[in-house]
Amino acid sequence: MSIRLEMDKVHTHYGTSHILFDVTLEVNQGESVCLLGRNGAGKTTTLKSIMSLASASAGSIRFNGAELIGRAPYEIARLGVGYVPDERLIFPDLTVRENLEIAIKPGVAGAPAHWTVERIYEMFPVLAPLGARLGGYLSGGEQQMLTMGRTLMGNPSLLLLDEPVEGVAPVVVQELTRQIKALKAMGLTILFAEQNMQFATEISDRAYVIEKGHIRFHGTMRELAANDEIKQKYLMI
Ligand SMILES: Nc1ncnc2c1ncn2[C@@H]1O[C@H](COP(=O)(O)OP(=O)(O)OP(=O)(O)O)[C@@H](O)[C@H]1O
Ligand SMILES: [Mg+2]
Repeated sequence: MSIRLEMDKVHTHYGTSHILFDVTLEVNQGESVCLLGRNGAGKTTTLKSIMSLASASAGSIRFNGAELIGRAPYEIARLGVGYVPDERLIFPDLTVRENLEIAIKPGVAGAPAHWTVERIYEMFPVLAPLGARLGGYLSGGEQQMLTMGRTLMGNPSLLLLDEPVEGVAPVVVQELTRQIKALKAMGLTILFAEQNMQFATEISDRAYVIEKGHIRFHGTMRELAANDEIKQKYLMI
């Protein structure tokens, strides 16, 4: 089955605050697509809407044709959507290996690889010698890799990444860039939220620009790079 995420005219509220307006985007099999926007633009809310962690009140979100609105987050994960949130969700009192083992989930149709702890260590070599260390003692960059590893252990066919390099050291940014490129090369379909245009340019094929909950632009990275008006108005570049 071919992988396809489609958001069509999605509106999302938090209580009485209307946050997303008519958000329409799509991600197709094998693509790496970024959602770019400044602080508070609605990037995290878009990813949370896909996972049903924020509830969309109108529109449609389909994954491989199945409507996601109204489903529970665990059901969406089971359909093959993996979510790496912006806060690093690891168990500080479990070891690195235990953090990975506890996240094992059988693969779903269309997932490009069947992940094991050993394969996660190959993808993130810095984690391998830390297998027995408690999660709480890892650096920020190591925790980010462990968080990604935990999500991969669920064998997702679509990966949602929320600002994966935010707050990590420049050398870790380079390493994560390599790793995300490797995941893309393996055929994983990726949608990520980002403010860092340089990082986004390295790993994405296409971009959507969001501002105040509205999609203001979509196009290839090359088209965005050439569009000074959009960059200045919505990204402050
Ligand atoms: N739980 C919440 N309740 C009410 N408002 C919220 C909640 N979470 C976010 N918001 C508001 O929704 C808007 C969009 O927030 P969101 O977190 O989606 O932005 P973002 O683009 O991810 O920003 P950042 O770059 O800071 O991560 C902001 O105005 C924010 O204040
Ligand atoms: Mg955010």
